[in-house]
Amino acid sequence: MKLDVKYETGVVWQDFQHKQLIDLFEKIKEARSDNKDKNLYRYTIAFLAMYVNHHFKLEEEYMDKYTYPDTALHRKEHQEFIKEIKAFREENINYSEKGADELLTRMGEWILSHILENDQKLGEYIRSFEQKKSAS
Ligand SMILES: [Fe+2]
Ligand SMILES: [Fe+2]
Repeated sequence: MKLDVKYETGVVWQDFQHKQLIDLFEKIKEARSDNKDKNLYRYTIAFLAMYVNHHFKLEEEYMDKYTYPDTALHRKEHQEFIKEIKAFREENINYSEKGADELLTRMGEWILSHILENDQKLGEYIRSFEQKKSAS
């Protein structure tokens, strides 16, 4: 799936990783409709949790490096999501349609609204910081 332009931050690595995350949700959606493949479903969720961790860490590294003013709030949102996905995995050790739907709607929506509200702001900050740096 292509990352809709409205979700772009303009920062190459950030856009690339957001696209990867959205693709993972698509993969979970496919596994959800193909009830036979429970392993694919579980594997993809484990991978999603790992990838989210990696992605959040990278964003936080940039926030620290460029002394981003909204770091505390942004970091808090990341931590809440990590907590949520951890709880989800503990409660949904076995595949269930209900669990899959919950993950797809709630967490899928969370990621998208987080990109629109927080990541785009961060992306803009990173871009202007890097522009200033390359100009000086
Ligand atoms: Fe973020
Ligand atoms: Fe992000």
